[in-house]
Amino acid sequence: MSRRFVRYFLTLAFALAVASAQSRPIPQLVKQDGKFRLMVDAKPFLMLGGQVGNFNAYPDLMERAWPGFKAMNLNTVEYPVYWNVIEPEEGRFDFSGFDRILTGLRSQGLRAILLWFGTWKNGAMDWAPNWVKADPRRFARVIDSGGHPIRSLSPMSKVTLEADRKSYVTMMKHLREVDEADRTAIMVQVENEPGSLGSVRDFSPESNQLFAGPVPAPLVAALKKKPGSWKEVFGRIADEAFNAYYLSSYINAVARAGKEAYPLPAYINVWNGGYGTNDNFERFDRPGESYPSGGAVAHMLDLWKANAPAIDAIASDNYHQNPITYLKVLDSYARPDNPLLIVETGSGIAARAFFYAIANYAAIGFGLMGGDWVPGPRLDMAGVGADFRLAQGAIPVITELQGTEKLKAAVEERGTGARNLIFTNYDVMVRFHPPGRQAAESAGPFPATAAEPSGRVLIAELGPDEFLVMGFGSAVEFRPVQGSDYTAAQLLSNEQGLYENGVWRTTTQGQTAQGDYTGPIVRLPESGALVKVKLMRY
Ligand code: DGJ
Repeated sequence: MSRRFVRYFLTLAFALAVASAQSRPIPQLVKQDGKFRLMVDAKPFLMLGGQVGNFNAYPDLMERAWPGFKAMNLNTVEYPVYWNVIEPEEGRFDFSGFDRILTGLRSQGLRAILLWFGTWKNGAMDWAPNWVKADPRRFARVIDSGGHPIRSLSPMSKVTLEADRKSYVTMMKHLREVDEADRTAIMVQVENEPGSLGSVRDFSPESNQLFAGPVPAPLVAALKKKPGSWKEVFGRIADEAFNAYYLSSYINAVARAGKEAYPLPAYINVWNGGYGTNDNFERFDRPGESYPSGGAVAHMLDLWKANAPAIDAIASDNYHQNPITYLKVLDSYARPDNPLLIVETGSGIAARAFFYAIANYAAIGFGLMGGDWVPGPRLDMAGVGADFRLAQGAIPVITELQGTEKLKAAVEERGTGARNLIFTNYDVMVRFHPPGRQAAESAGPFPATAAEPSGRVLIAELGPDEFLVMGFGSAVEFRPVQGSDYTAAQLLSNEQGLYENGVWRTTTQGQTAQGDYTGPIVRLPESGALVKVKLMRY
């Protein structure tokens, strides 16, 4: 091969690489027309995610989990990057496993969310490297009120912050190098359920001195409080607020430095706690005891939002199975300054929670805690796999209508047989498991458990007389709104189908004749379906 040809070939390869890097814009979290959008490849994205268990983010295990990811219809995998694995000795980095995992997911057409297990993991320090753990004089631990060190690093330590930040930035620089052209990674979680588990705050002498002093003026101003000591400004939650302030300052500094290297959207996740979010009646719900102190729990959200601008989203992990508490958490985190993002949830309620989250709270993503994905997904998560199967093609419709009155969910709960939804021209009645039809309907690959309510429907108003209906185990009836010129409606078409590359393909023509029914009714089998409905009013 001539040298000229080699040079030509290399130039061409370089040009193609640059073109491909340029053709994929960096993922972004933006707020447009009052609503949040996670933009991936310049298009609104809905993260249909699954998180791997804490001990599973090693290349061999990840590769064996690929079929599990597919079976659950994920478009994104959330997985830890362990500080102790990428920097086993101070300043010596090993990205071999990191690269293999990322390339593997890319080869499967999946996106990635990297979870930085750095200074904090569930309020403790378990994935910090041994050179950090074994040197408490240099890397200070939280000192509890009895004067004892706990298994959690202190958010007051500038030395630990520096070490974490250096490592995180090195990872982000490396990520940019290996992923800029493909954008497999779409977001980064900075730390994991940060906070101090075992003490409400650091009671070291230096920390006590700061606690006795005034609350920093910018924080007082941002929260519109009167200046004063921590106790004066925050009263009974002063210790927790103090810890939250230093924790959010620390994590903001790590995230900001990471964004300078590679500006992917950054978020934190939260171990819930306090003020009625604990369903466990055996425990008092107190910071540092039942949940890590200083994390962005609902009553610390204003503080975190004010003090950590480099964090684009605060995502509450939601393991509640009681719908009252589950929805209370969604209510707290979907705010004008915070998109709803669920990165950890699971078990029975999750299949219904997906519908609440995407339709009623405009969630930008929904991620299951899947644990060990080998040899296959957990059976109790199967309902969510079915949800994702229906939702994946409909993402453009869902993201377009999220945050408007044109997208709503009706979800079955114990004691609720039906729900009414109101749209522009129609009132819609959703009946869950209406009598007389279940026997004929196939149970499908993902049968609902008898104990768990499973009826769930999402309705998208596509036009004045046109709807997309997506869901399971329900009958959906349409009636013109009261007070309009019309008294009744009839079905013009009732097509089951799916979206392929954004284009609707009808697979089955459903009934339009109403027979002995009182109104135009669309039926969704227990196994789920996506139905396009055209109606007319008369
Ligand atoms: C919450 C943590 O953030 C996860 O990493 C994982 O440990 C789960 N709890 C376990 O259920």
